Amino acid sequence: MAKLEILTYPNPLLREVSQIVKTFTPDLQKLATDMLETMYDANGIGLAAPQVGQLIQMLVIDTRSNDPENSRYENEDITALEAKLKQPLVLINPEIIKGEGNTTFDEGCLSVPSFFETVERFEKVEVKAFDVHGKEMRFTVDGLLAIVIQHEMDHLKGTLFIDHISFTKSNKIKNQIKKGGYPTKEEIAEKRKADKLKDLSKA
Ligand code: CO
Repeated sequence: MAKLEILTYPNPLLREVSQIVKTFTPDLQKLATDMLETMYDANGIGLAAPQVGQLIQMLVIDTRSNDPENSRYENEDITALEAKLKQPLVLINPEIIKGEGNTTFDEGCLSVPSFFETVERFEKVEVKAFDVHGKEMRFTVDGLLAIVIQHEMDHLKGTLFIDHISFTKSNKIKNQIKKGGYPTKEEIAEKRKADKLKDLSKA
């Protein structure tokens, strides 16, 4: 197992269209394992191969993550459809066969760390994909898992969540990154603490 480097915006690789996987070699299993380790280490709930510089249509997801330092997912209830799927999920060549309804969520991204914006997605999706052995799977899911699948599938097309928000909001984030870069891990931890205090004062 190895922890991989997560590329951050504006790395140009994040804007590329990823290739369809045609042969299912043991290398895929190794990459999936490394991606999961990288994702868990970063307290993420999803990671797409292009985020670690591999331009192939593969993503890993685990929405069960319940990091006490990350209040964002603490109270996220898993829906009945989500509970049916065994996680972590490794999806190769994923396709959305059908999308239904609309939902919004304050999305963040390991490639745009510390920024969050509300993004609209399908509420429920029917997905076709392959596992690391090339076995086809089909399932219908909603809840946070449906949102994460759509977010990660965007990465395979070179799309980021900041492309789904208003021009003004997106420009504000891009300029902030251009001018000041990303906050350090310590700064993010400080901000999280401050946000928690804010939440308490609201309650
Ligand atoms: Co992302």
